[in-house]
Amino acid sequence: MSKQPTNEFESEGSFGAAPHERPVPRISIDAFCEFPDTMAALERAASDRRLSKAHLGVQSGGIQGAVKYYGEHPTPNLVMVETSAQGSAVVTELEQLANVCDETTKVIVMGRVNDVQLYRELTRRGVSEYLVAPLNPLQIIETISNLYSGPKAAPIGRVCVFAGSRGGAGASTIAHNVGWYIAETLKIDTAIVDFDLAFGTVGLNFNEDPGQGIADALSAPERLDDVLLERLLIKCGERLSLFAAPALLDRDYEVEVNAYESVIDQVRRSTPCVIVDLPHAWTPWSRQTLLAADEIVIVATPDLASLRNTKNMLDVVRARRPNDAPPRLVMNQMGIPKRPEIPVKEFAAAVGMEPNLVLPFDPHLFGTAANNGQMLPEVQAQAVVSEGMRAIAEMVTGRTSHQVSKKGGRSFLPFLSKKAS
Ligand SMILES: Nc1ncnc2c1ncn2[C@@H]1O[C@H](COP(=O)(O)OP(=O)(O)OP(=O)(O)O)[C@@H](O)[C@H]1O
Ligand SMILES: [Mg+2]
Repeated sequence: MSKQPTNEFESEGSFGAAPHERPVPRISIDAFCEFPDTMAALERAASDRRLSKAHLGVQSGGIQGAVKYYGEHPTPNLVMVETSAQGSAVVTELEQLANVCDETTKVIVMGRVNDVQLYRELTRRGVSEYLVAPLNPLQIIETISNLYSGPKAAPIGRVCVFAGSRGGAGASTIAHNVGWYIAETLKIDTAIVDFDLAFGTVGLNFNEDPGQGIADALSAPERLDDVLLERLLIKCGERLSLFAAPALLDRDYEVEVNAYESVIDQVRRSTPCVIVDLPHAWTPWSRQTLLAADEIVIVATPDLASLRNTKNMLDVVRARRPNDAPPRLVMNQMGIPKRPEIPVKEFAAAVGMEPNLVLPFDPHLFGTAANNGQMLPEVQAQAVVSEGMRAIAEMVTGRTSHQVSKKGGRSFLPFLSKKAS
């Protein structure tokens, strides 16, 4: 249970400062309160500078309010719920919440009683913290900060790398659309990192001037702190940031192999979802970036060269990541008129895995989106490929945009069952 400072300015840090000066990263937090004093403390925390990057939404309703809300909305990184219930009644209420929460969501429970047994039971079942009201803003910030920026906190960003099995397969377009969808619809703060320094299309696809962005970061990764990162990233909407490639040919891009990893590490320290757009090349750094990813999406076209390359890429990934789930495979540009193609079934048999998604060739939609600097769903939300972007976004984040699919298939309680034996 979190230690309770006697007043809001008392803390372990000197000069009355909260002990964790690092700002809380760009996570999304929803709080559901039962009592006005808790609500007021959370609202004051929400306007604190240390939470200025995070999105903290405060509403009333307690655990039941949260259960109802997530019946219709995607879950954030962190849910804070207040309860006036006691003992095992709290666990029962939380079981309902677990039913509608995504697996990766962390939960903080705020209660009115100092009950050590309940605290133990809740943490054993995967609840991150149990706070006893009345709360003060700095205590709330410290608790959140400990979860995400404390010395033991894992980096918050999941890194998803998109790679094409051959040049022009569609990896970049799909990566940008998926990143955009994750930020816009799943409401997860996302950074798209374009590692195609000379020919990258992030700037074009989002209709933004790319500047030097990623090239500056890669040429001096040791200088890349929070402040510089903030300067180099292009903000594109409330939750999307772009690390765009300059796409100029007037300079040589000589980058140290480890610089790519350093840049990704820095970005993932503050952003929950990092989409990496890899150029079609096989170099020490691109191999390393691919193999180090949390999620890999290979975009393949149905031709022989692509089949061979896909198989080789999958073999390397399977051999080097024996304890990870296999990469996701997206077959793209199916059904180009008059072009002979390898049927999906044969392709799947040859590479040893079924594609997770098959996308049709849709030149009008892709062409319009590319030429207008728009995303595919912005041009035509109902198109098959737009629906495909949703599917990939949900696959790589484990999040859903609406609750229907969650309720349907879940046979386990995500955070509640995580640690329960
Ligand atoms: N399903 C599709 N239907 C029609 N056109 C598509 C489709 N997928 C991608 N394209 C188009 O193919 C072209 C190449 O796409 P993109 O740049 O995303 O590929 P890439 O794999 O990133 O290529 P590179 O090897 O240059 O990195 C773009 O003009 C894109 O609009
Ligand atoms: Mg590309």
